[in-house]
Amino acid sequence: MAKAKKKSKLKAVKTKKPAAKKAAAKKSNGLPSPSKKPFGQAGLALDGVRILDFTHVQSGPTCTQLLAWFGADVIKVERPGVGDITRGQLVDVKGADSLYFTMLNHNKRSITIDSKHKKGKEILDRLIKECDVLVENFAPGALDRMGLTWEHIHKLNPRMIVASVKGFGPGPYEDCKVYENVAQCTGGSASTTGFRDGPPLVTGAQIGDSGTGLHLALGIVTALYQRSRTGRGQKVLCAMQDGVLNLARVKLRDQQRLKHGPLTEYSQYGEGIPFGDATPRAGNDSGGGQPGRILKCKGAPQDPNAYIYFITQAPVWESICDVIGEPTWKTDPEFSTPKARLPKLNAIFERIERWTMTKTKFEAMDILNKYDIPCGPILSMKELAEDQSLRKTGTVVEVDHPKRGKYLSVGNPIKLSDSISKVKRSPLLGEHTDEILKDVLRYSAKEIADIKVSGAITAPEKKEKAA
Ligand code: COA
Repeated sequence: MAKAKKKSKLKAVKTKKPAAKKAAAKKSNGLPSPSKKPFGQAGLALDGVRILDFTHVQSGPTCTQLLAWFGADVIKVERPGVGDITRGQLVDVKGADSLYFTMLNHNKRSITIDSKHKKGKEILDRLIKECDVLVENFAPGALDRMGLTWEHIHKLNPRMIVASVKGFGPGPYEDCKVYENVAQCTGGSASTTGFRDGPPLVTGAQIGDSGTGLHLALGIVTALYQRSRTGRGQKVLCAMQDGVLNLARVKLRDQQRLKHGPLTEYSQYGEGIPFGDATPRAGNDSGGGQPGRILKCKGAPQDPNAYIYFITQAPVWESICDVIGEPTWKTDPEFSTPKARLPKLNAIFERIERWTMTKTKFEAMDILNKYDIPCGPILSMKELAEDQSLRKTGTVVEVDHPKRGKYLSVGNPIKLSDSISKVKRSPLLGEHTDEILKDVLRYSAKEIADIKVSGAITAPEKKEKAA
């Protein structure tokens, strides 16, 4: 009897299940129903994604570091005995990996493999089968020369996404090696940066390297999303020239506007200097429709950063006049409209600067913010390093490293409420070789011992110099 009762109960549950499932699916639009876990405790966004990280220097490592912060298992493959060249560049603490390396390789694991060694190639093939994405930024052709052609990779793992940074896309320069400043120059940034009467300038922000790494990261997650539909990997290419041009897009806008007359928001318009046939350098003029300049504050120029960026945004013009002590400019037709002000921007900013010079950049910021006047102090790296609000948000983090001790780094600038990034120190060279061979590639202890003596994961012995 009890048995019969139990059976009928089970039956009832069984018949109920598909209907309940249907209802739940309808409710969540066919997608999994939302996690019940509190925000920030449902794991990391890219948990389960494994990256074969063949990147070096800055552009590629920027990309894979971001993916690692979002939870991907990033396995950095490095040349035995040497590693990423930046480990030993701009060294500040003897015997420790440089800040250049440590600040670009957080949250990754390091394995050393000689990609040109027969056994090394075999290990790499195994890694390809275990990973979702291969990221590289070698010189053009280097990956192919290792035997890792798209066809080879795709045959081993059709789901593999192969993501590359190159200096240029297909075209006359496709075979060139490229570094940051070359990209800034060839992507249109340098020709539009600096002052009109000075040479082209590169910027301090690494828009060629880190900028392209950011583009690549977006390409990778997009390809991962498409793969969830197609089941197929694809190639993702970001050329540094393209990435810089994308960031300099407003300057290509101005190039086309030139055909229709002078660029009235540029200082040279007010100075009566004719425009040429290419977008000129605009100094610190604002790139948008609201004129802006960098102005001296109390302490300048002795303090090289006692300046503020000041925007004469049209809707707050009247407040600006009141703050700087020119209330008549509010109604004077020579100053009251944005159009009337354009030819006089130099004089207007000189007057505003006479006011900003009576305040420190922080005092000026406090006063101007009360009136919603857009402005920003020129912050030095020292000030940013000491800024407590950036520490609180994890944008500036202190990291501990076994060989160099504590150092500051920039944490993940992209904040996800349900995928909280924690910055972990960069790996030592080959630190995770054993665990990756064992846990990811499932080599036996005997096989690992054989690999160790094969020369595939260790640096070739240096021949002793003759006395
Ligand atoms: N085992 C064995 N060999 C390895 C290896 C490994 N684990 N990792 C790299 N190598 C080899 C490569 O196969 C290559 O050999 P090859 O030229 O015989 O084929 C060699 O190391 C050098 O690689 P390469 O990429 O040419 O380095 P480089 O120091 O000469 O050039 C760049 C550096 C950055 C200029 C170049 O990689 C490049 O243009 N990259 C694309 C653009 C880019 O990302 N630039 C910005 C960097 S921040």
